[in-house]
Amino acid sequence: MALGSESVHGMWSSRLMFVMAAAGSAVGLGNIWRFPYVAGENGGGAFVLVYIGCIFLIGVPIMASEILMGRAGRQSPINAMRDLVAHSNANPLWQVIGWMGAMAGFMILSFYAVIAGWAISYFFQMGSGAFTGTSAEQANAAFGALTGDPVAVVGWHTLFMMMTIAIAARGVGAGLEATVRVLMPALFVLLVVLVIYAGVTSGKFIEGLSFLFSFNVEKLTWEGVLIAMGQAFFTLSLGMGAIMAYGAYMPKEVSIISTATTIALLDTVVALMSGMVIFPLVFANGLESSAGPGLMFVTLPLAFGQMTGGAFFGAVFFLLVTFAAITSSISLVEPAIAWLIERMKTTRVKAALVIGGLAWLMGLGSAFSFNIWADLYFVNGMTFFDLMDYVSNNIMLPLGGVFIALFAGWAIDQDITRDQLSVGPVAYNTWRFVTRFIAPSAVFLVFLLAVF
Ligand code: TRP
Repeated sequence: MALGSESVHGMWSSRLMFVMAAAGSAVGLGNIWRFPYVAGENGGGAFVLVYIGCIFLIGVPIMASEILMGRAGRQSPINAMRDLVAHSNANPLWQVIGWMGAMAGFMILSFYAVIAGWAISYFFQMGSGAFTGTSAEQANAAFGALTGDPVAVVGWHTLFMMMTIAIAARGVGAGLEATVRVLMPALFVLLVVLVIYAGVTSGKFIEGLSFLFSFNVEKLTWEGVLIAMGQAFFTLSLGMGAIMAYGAYMPKEVSIISTATTIALLDTVVALMSGMVIFPLVFANGLESSAGPGLMFVTLPLAFGQMTGGAFFGAVFFLLVTFAAITSSISLVEPAIAWLIERMKTTRVKAALVIGGLAWLMGLGSAFSFNIWADLYFVNGMTFFDLMDYVSNNIMLPLGGVFIALFAGWAIDQDITRDQLSVGPVAYNTWRFVTRFIAPSAVFLVFLLAVF
């Protein structure tokens, strides 16, 4: 049995660096781009409350489970699961957690890189002053022009994937850690500046806040609850082994539960702050809060276009969106890359190229969903992009999360969880009760209610 003390892939140099890397994974397009628009589509207030409930009630215990499984296994999620299953004499079927996770990672990255590519394009467009003095119609048209151009979309998507591959190829220390230690603080500072800017210049800060926080339960459906839960998994990077892979590089003495709580708090703060930037601008400019995936790409250029220095601030903002996306995308490929290195005894550079290349190929489907394949529906009027997003977020991640919770709660050798978490009996039993009973039944209940 090879439950080791160090990972062959490298280690984070400190607790802070693990927090930054995991928060870097968690904070991404899910917070800045996706959270505001799904909250907008689902009526705000009540949705946000359900979302926050899912983060702390279900998300944090599952995140703790992922970290501890990764740190106990010290390998890629697929091989960590194999060893944990063997060590615990558990049913080999549990290994599906690792495999399904790697697949979900591909599916998520396939649309993630496309959206991130749009952000890169907007960085250049904003910086060139293309949006100075723009109107709502023009901002809408510019978004349509970009997404409708398959060559442009694939070009930006390719650039983003190359950056992801380049960082992942440099490894845990020189690649991942070196990236997050610069980008995460920068992202946070700029977000604070933007919240203040949006609040002051729009004059609609209170409207934005009340949209995010007023409890309008009549606007919430069970489908909305499922989407809130899916968003909670997505934004915390849970259910597919990304955090498990990062946990494998975490120093042994670091406390898992308090670290997971810190990461969830940081992630929630960033999501709410993004809402506080976007919704005041939406209301001040008479835009629709339910505008869908284009919300960020239309509201922000419009608002920056009216502001002195807007070209500069707008460009910086989209640069940071790009950075936030990169610190997430490197965590989406890490499980598969680590596995390929272990399996084929190959170099990280080759593994990163293979995995990134495959994800790029699959991403073409999402890239074309906005132009040449816009009328190609797979199930229920969903484009390839819609399908990837829906299946990965609302089905695979919650399902992966449940399996992780059930494995950590029931199947894994208890000595491992006790040793890894190393907290007092109250905290341990609370964690165990939630992972055994609460998290799985909550997810299944939401599944059932959303389907019927
Ligand atoms: N959490 C990231 C975001 O909010 C996306 C992400 C990165 C992710 N790694 C993940 C989502 C693993 C699910 C699983 O943008």
